[in-house]
Amino acid sequence: MKRKDSSKSGMRNRPSVYQGSASPKVKWTGKVERLAWGGLGVGREEDGRLILLSAPLALFPGEEVEAEVRWKARHGEGDVLRWMTSDPRRVATTCPVARLCGGCDLWESGAHASELKKLMVEDLLRRQLPDTTEWAWHPAPPEARRHRIQLHWAGRTLGFHRRRSHSIVPVQACPVAHSVLSDAIPRLREALEEGALPSRPQRWELATGTPANLVFAVMEDGRSWQLEPDGWHPSTQPIVHTFRGDSLRHRAGGFFQVSPPWAMEAFRQTFETWDVRGNTLFDLYGGVGLFSVLLRDRFKDAVLVESEPHAVAWARQNLESLNIPGACHASDASEWITAGLGQTEDVILVDPPRIGLSPGFTELLRTAKTGTLILVGCDGAAFCRDIKRLAPEWRLEKLAVLDLFPMTPHVEFVGLLKPC
Ligand SMILES: C[S@@+](CC[C@H](N)C(=O)[O-])C[C@H]1O[C@@H](n2cnc3c(N)ncnc32)[C@H](O)[C@@H]1O
Repeated sequence: MKRKDSSKSGMRNRPSVYQGSASPKVKWTGKVERLAWGGLGVGREEDGRLILLSAPLALFPGEEVEAEVRWKARHGEGDVLRWMTSDPRRVATTCPVARLCGGCDLWESGAHASELKKLMVEDLLRRQLPDTTEWAWHPAPPEARRHRIQLHWAGRTLGFHRRRSHSIVPVQACPVAHSVLSDAIPRLREALEEGALPSRPQRWELATGTPANLVFAVMEDGRSWQLEPDGWHPSTQPIVHTFRGDSLRHRAGGFFQVSPPWAMEAFRQTFETWDVRGNTLFDLYGGVGLFSVLLRDRFKDAVLVESEPHAVAWARQNLESLNIPGACHASDASEWITAGLGQTEDVILVDPPRIGLSPGFTELLRTAKTGTLILVGCDGAAFCRDIKRLAPEWRLEKLAVLDLFPMTPHVEFVGLLKPC
């Protein structure tokens, strides 16, 4: 049998504009047909090829734009240069660096940001999990703000990374951050300029608790300072988040939800609506114990697994101080889990980092014996991939999508799965 020369057929299918490795940028004018996952607009060339459009200030379906497009093998990728028509819902941004900063992409959608994000999630689910017809959308309340931000000190400039670059956009304030953090930005810059804080170029985190009052500046090596009226003072104090009378502590610079009051409320509402309860909660990738604490009245005990040593030490203290029975294990979750974990009355809750679940961990989850599995994910594509990988044994029964990252295209997915 004659073998097909795939390299030649591949060449035949290539658009004529695609020659060599990098095609030149070309101007393109057209309509944003729809919004896709990740905040991208989708346009279409006359010959049917799709163009993924990126813009710093939000895109509305139906808008006509001019973009600079680079063609790939089968699609184009474009940066919007200007708007030929503008959706009436578009508003002027209140952030002076919105066009340059890589942090938020939805500023000019204003109060309609939530509608646009919902369209992006719909697009993702239609493609990746087409059987998911019902899901709950939890828009962020207008008062939701970030309780930690990462700034970069370049020796003379303090700011955020420029959009798709490592250069720095100087900032004086940040409107998506809580006002106590935003107000602390000039104080941090002054201290760095004066040498009152270590002035070598590096990343700094500004963070506050719940309620937001004390402000901490954390250096890359983990050392932290607390802001007082007379300046920054070295600190070893934890950051405290109090929700409905329960307090969680963590090391300054350690992981916690970005908008904690809203995140804690959104998760609480979701678990209450689904009536999540049982004997043992397996809180895997448990951090400092957020879910064990939120669900403490709904389970007899909690088994938390977390690999970051400081986080698991704080998890132990947090759970002990609230008299939550159970155990906290300092371990890689995929090394800790064993085949056939749990019993019907138990629940496994997994909240991995952005990258999602490893294939080996997923294999072991597929053998779990609990009556419920809850998967939390902050990257929609990884979340959908993991739901599909779990599918032979686990079926997605309920899905909630929480807008925990206002003004950005990011959202949090929470899925409740039942054995097939
Ligand atoms: C998305 S955070 C969730 C934390 C916690 N559930 C919360 O909401 O506060 C993921 C957590 O997994 C931890 N982690 C990362 N890789 C891990 C691994 N291989 N095994 C166990 N924990 C891991 C991180 O340190 C982090 O605390």
